[in-house]
Amino acid sequence: MRFKPDIGFFKSVTDNFNPEMLTKIITEGTTQIEVPIPDENSSFPPSSVSVFYNPEMQLNRDISVAAIACFVKDNPEYTYLDALSASGIRGLRIANEVGLATTMSDWEEESVGLIEKNIILNSLENCTAIKRNANVVMLDNSFDIIDLDPFGTPAPFLDAACRSARKLLCVTATDTAPLCGAHKKAGIRRYGAVPLKTDYYPEMGVRILIGAIARTLARSDKAMTPLLSYASQHYYRVFVEVKKNVVSADECLKQMGFVSQCFKCGEMHKEFGLAVHMDKECPECGEKTTIAGPLWLGSLHDRDFCDCVLAECEKREFTRAVKLIRLCRDELDIPLHYDYHKLCKSLGISARRTDELISVLRERGFGASRTHFSGVSFKTDAPLGEIKRIVMGLD
Ligand SMILES: C[S@@+](CC[C@H](N)C(=O)[O-])C[C@H]1O[C@@H](n2cnc3c(N)ncnc32)[C@H](O)[C@@H]1O
Ligand SMILES: [Zn+2]
Repeated sequence: MRFKPDIGFFKSVTDNFNPEMLTKIITEGTTQIEVPIPDENSSFPPSSVSVFYNPEMQLNRDISVAAIACFVKDNPEYTYLDALSASGIRGLRIANEVGLATTMSDWEEESVGLIEKNIILNSLENCTAIKRNANVVMLDNSFDIIDLDPFGTPAPFLDAACRSARKLLCVTATDTAPLCGAHKKAGIRRYGAVPLKTDYYPEMGVRILIGAIARTLARSDKAMTPLLSYASQHYYRVFVEVKKNVVSADECLKQMGFVSQCFKCGEMHKEFGLAVHMDKECPECGEKTTIAGPLWLGSLHDRDFCDCVLAECEKREFTRAVKLIRLCRDELDIPLHYDYHKLCKSLGISARRTDELISVLRERGFGASRTHFSGVSFKTDAPLGEIKRIVMGLD
């Protein structure tokens, strides 16, 4: 047997592979991957085949390669688990392009068969493929780095991942509607928090997700620090550094809090803590406010880490990723943002260029920046009344 697993049930390389599956070999990064050929007439081609493969997620995988390369710079011996592996494309790229000892698991036999073929295709010696429930893999073993890239919500895997991960958790969520408040009840069930559909909905979703991760880690006396968090296409993605320490875990939870939103005048108020007092009426206009949370109110990114990821993306020619990471790195480190177009609509005026508004805010002494969440959005520490006066003045 060529690839000897350190854990779990294993069959010979050829036993799992389905020879009837139609496949092709593609290259992503510098890795070759045999993937199934999807039915292009299907409503969602990646799910039309027995092993999931979505070429649209290359950006997500490119950024993962760059981010993990940065994270392991001083510790190239860290172990990595691609817990929901499908074709193995994510784990194979980490093994091949970053060089980590990688475990790829999936509960589908055909997936594991394809992963095994792909390990051979790339002549990788540092890989293990396991056919097993991801939660069992994680509860039975610890890994330095765990990557959750599920179809839909990561919620069923968070408990086990937070127990198992020693240094870094990488989580994708494609259930953006529950997270951002469009499907509120599902959001409450999955993440134990009340989301709210607002003008800044993608940031609401990312912060609800990080908050759920922080609270789940805290149950294992672990703290987390977000290194990079973003919303793109139809998913959210976060990289959080994990540290096992009770004092740090207590400190981490202090970055949790609530947001109260006035849907009449747009005023939003943030309150740190898990047991908070919040005004039922908007201090500006007296309208009843609506509350979201608990959610993460701390930083979304670490600037030095973003600098490193950016350099890795440039070096590896991940051109699409460069623009996104630069926006993440340069956005003001404060929770929530404003949608310039929606703000103008509520004021009955037309919008100018977002950069023009940001320049004026800065000239008036406020912090202001673009945000990766949307091209027409901005972050600022200016009070809403001041923002409105400036926006009106630009009209
Ligand atoms: C969205 S796909 C993974 C895509 C892959 N990470 C990529 O980058 O292409 C989700 C995979 O998780 C597997 N899966 C779902 N639930 C699982 C579980 N409880 N244990 C193990 N695998 C599971 C599915 O069989 C499927 O292959
Ligand atoms: Zn109000």
